[in-house]
Parts: sequence; structure tokens; C-alpha cells
Amino acid sequence: MTVMGIGPGDPRLLTQRGRELLESADLVAGFKTVLDVVAPWTTEAEVCPMSYRDQDAVLDYAAQQARQGKKCVVCAWGDLNVSAKELRERVSQRVDRVELVPGISSVQVACMRSGIYLEEAVFITLHRREDAAGPLEELVHYLKEGRRHVILIPRPFDLMPAAIARQLLDSGLPTGREVIVYQRLSLEGEKSWRGSLAELARQFEDKDFSDLSIMVFMK
Ligand SMILES: C[S@@+](CC[C@H](N)C(=O)[O-])C[C@H]1O[C@@H](n2cnc3c(N)ncnc32)[C@H](O)[C@@H]1O
Repeated sequence: MTVMGIGPGDPRLLTQRGRELLESADLVAGFKTVLDVVAPWTTEAEVCPMSYRDQDAVLDYAAQQARQGKKCVVCAWGDLNVSAKELRERVSQRVDRVELVPGISSVQVACMRSGIYLEEAVFITLHRREDAAGPLEELVHYLKEGRRHVILIPRPFDLMPAAIARQLLDSGLPTGREVIVYQRLSLEGEKSWRGSLAELARQFEDKDFSDLSIMVFMK
């Protein structure tokens, strides 16, 4: 089985290797939004869309097909080393050998748009099932320290940009601390917002932001 990153959403940012894999695959699995991006290259494959609820059953089926000699590809959004641990682990639990094919991450696009270098930044994701207290504590630590930029992936539904801003203010970060929120990077309707934590906390509701949002705090 192969796990591949499909890029940040613009199909032109899919790698050549990724495209070749999709075109020669017998089965392609992934969340529906991910499969929509790569649909032009999966016309010959059995396409298996999955949701959070049925992902185990879909991956069981894909692993069974792989054991029968089928070329099975699981697609991850962006790059597979960036906030995709749960999906990676679900695949490696099922088969002995997994080929990994990287993609362009939304984090790279956020670096490019904001003009920051990854080596001068810390990356934190809240997008995971575990308790968010640890990552939030680290976020506050790095922001107070001020030595690195911080790139942050929010958590859909409960920890989106406005809620994060409120938590940071409660943790003692200054009201004027600047933050940038990028939405739908590389996709139609891409936009960015720049302002203070106080503005973000006061003027916005979390429903105002797309699930595809990344926050950047410049040092
Ligand atoms: C589970 S993480 C996976 C990240 C992915 N592996 C990557 O490298 O981009 C999904 C989150 O990444 C962020 N994200 C992914 N693509 C994005 C985009 N095009 N624009 C803004 N944020 C994006 C959003 O916060 C989204 O909820």
C-alpha cells in the first residue's frame, strides 16, 4: 500500500510521482474532499471514499485488496508528514510495508505567503483527537518566548481561530499581538486576514472561518 500527499488543494500542485501513482493504481482511498482534488487521475481505479465514521472499514478493504496483489493508494491532504499521523498509523497497522510519497503541504504555502522560513518557525497542530491542552501550552510558551514564528493548524469545530485567540488572551498574551489567518490556500476563494488577537477574538465567530485555515504568528 502507498500513502501519498496530494498537495494543498490546487490540483496543479500534485507532484508528478503522485499523478503517476494515481494513474496506475487499482484502488484509491481517501476522504471525499481529498479524492475530489485527484478525480481527474483516478478514472481507471476503484475509488473508495471514506468518512471519519467508516474509515476503518474502508482501509480494511483496501488492505485486503493490497494483500491480493492490487496496487492500493491512500491519499492524504497536503503532505503526509504534516498533521497526518492518525491516517498514517491506521494504514501501517494493517499492512507490513507502506510506501510513502510526499506532497506539498499547506504549511509550505503558508510560509510562502507570509514570507517566513521554516527553519525560523515552530509548527504546532491542534488537529488531532487527543486533548489540546498540551499543544495549547506549547503555543503559549513559544509565543511568549518570541524567538520563532509559529505556524498553527486549528481544530475544526471547537478550536478555530477566534476561540484560539480568546484562549491566548486568557493566557496573558498581549491584546495587540498580531496574527495572520490564511484560508483556502492555493484554492479558489483563498483569503487572508491580519490583525490583533483582540480583534480576532472580538469580531469573529469560529463559523466565520473555513475548515481550511492556518494561523501564522510572526516573531
Ligand atoms: C489534518 S490537517 C492535514 C494537513 C496536511 N497534511 C498538509 O500538509 O497540508 C488539515 C488541516 O490543515 C489545514 N489546511 C490544509 N490545507 C489547507 C489550505 N489549502 N489552506 C488552509 N489550511 C489548510 C487546515 O487547518 C485543515 O483543517
